[in-house]
Amino acid sequence: MRFDIITIFPELFSGVLECGIIRRTLQSGMAEIRVVNLRDFTRDRHRSVDDRPYGGGEGMVFMPGPLFEAVEFCRGREEEFDGQVVLLTPQGEVWSQNLAAEFVTIPHLIMICGRYEGVDQRVIDNLVDREISIGDFVLTGGEIPAMVVLDSVVRLIPGALGHPDSAVNESFSTGMLDYPQYTRPAQYRGQAVPDVLLSGNHAKIEKWRKEQALEKTKRARPELVDKKSAQN
Ligand SMILES: C[S@@+](CC[C@H](N)C(=O)[O-])C[C@H]1O[C@@H](n2cnc3c(N)ncnc32)[C@H](O)[C@@H]1O
Repeated sequence: MRFDIITIFPELFSGVLECGIIRRTLQSGMAEIRVVNLRDFTRDRHRSVDDRPYGGGEGMVFMPGPLFEAVEFCRGREEEFDGQVVLLTPQGEVWSQNLAAEFVTIPHLIMICGRYEGVDQRVIDNLVDREISIGDFVLTGGEIPAMVVLDSVVRLIPGALGHPDSAVNESFSTGMLDYPQYTRPAQYRGQAVPDVLLSGNHAKIEKWRKEQALEKTKRARPELVDKKSAQN
């Protein structure tokens, strides 16, 4: 799977690409990630990417020129482009595990990271297939949202996680939050691991985990329980 990330701060991505599962998928060739500097598509001495908004108002807006050229560069030959162009914006669809599962089937994702007041509407009208928000709050730029999308999609690439079931038995994939996890030692500062987990009885363990997941979901995210009941 290919990712292109268009940003004015490529250096922000170095840590994310050099650690953990993302690094492993890059090394094994499961993912190809290119960070593209928007300023490489400017033509003036100052490498300007933004200008003041028509009609007045605060802040600056990304101009269409550099973004059109950067996206065209990332798409390559029109007939060969088999992907989607995604704009990270607080005005988009709210990101979710379901969207991550949908995006992992797209062979080539081009992500545009906005800054300032956002991007010229003509970019959205002509180039962008999907607008994605990571939640109802406003960040200073689209780089952290792009990392969120990248991380949550990369870990769903078949073979990216050590165990194929890791992405199946976890929060949201089941419609519920995950159950509590324990590891050694069995006693720590007077607190014991629940007996059932040490019993070796897999049927009982599975039942306990389901009950715990349901309890946790009812407490923290009751709307997920309602949604699941409505589906059944
Ligand atoms: C300060 S924000 C612009 C906010 C915009 N004026 C608005 O009110 O919708 C600058 C950039 O940060 C990114 N951004 C901020 N919050 C985001 C969020 N919740 N999800 C995705 N991207 C976000 C977008 O790329 C956006 O263009």
